[in-house]
Amino acid sequence: MKILVINGPNLNMLGKRNKTIYGDKTLAGLNTMLKKQAANLGVDIVNFQSNTEGALIDFIQEHSPQAVGIIINPGALTHYGLSLRDALADSGLPVVEVHLSNIYAREEWRAKSVIAPIAKGQISGLGWWGYVAALQSLVGDLKGET
Ligand code: DQA
Repeated sequence: MKILVINGPNLNMLGKRNKTIYGDKTLAGLNTMLKKQAANLGVDIVNFQSNTEGALIDFIQEHSPQAVGIIINPGALTHYGLSLRDALADSGLPVVEVHLSNIYAREEWRAKSVIAPIAKGQISGLGWWGYVAALQSLVGDLKGET
């Protein structure tokens, strides 16, 4: 079982970027940790990050036919990325939206997600644990665990 783990704009800067909000783990560190979790759960993950919406869409279109679920932190595209939303919906896969920070406790414009309505669920504010929780819940669901 293959799960796509996708990170959007500016998330390549984790570890350098506003550490009080986003923590000090780098994206590479996060991906390594998630690969270990995935191995424990018996699934494969495919990581991708881009700063451009089109590249994220190309990745989703190419890889979703071989995948069983998507975990995505869309970065600021969360708030206006309608083409990304369409690509995620068109994939037909369960999508879990993850945010490191609590988007409801920050600027008002961050409180709106155009992705959430097509997502299975959203995790916001749990830091990198949010990715772990997303992975566990997707795999648990796919395996039919209760
Ligand atoms: C973010 C929240 C977004 O509002 C922001 O633009 C990001 C990161 C988060 O993980 O908390 O780039 O998605």
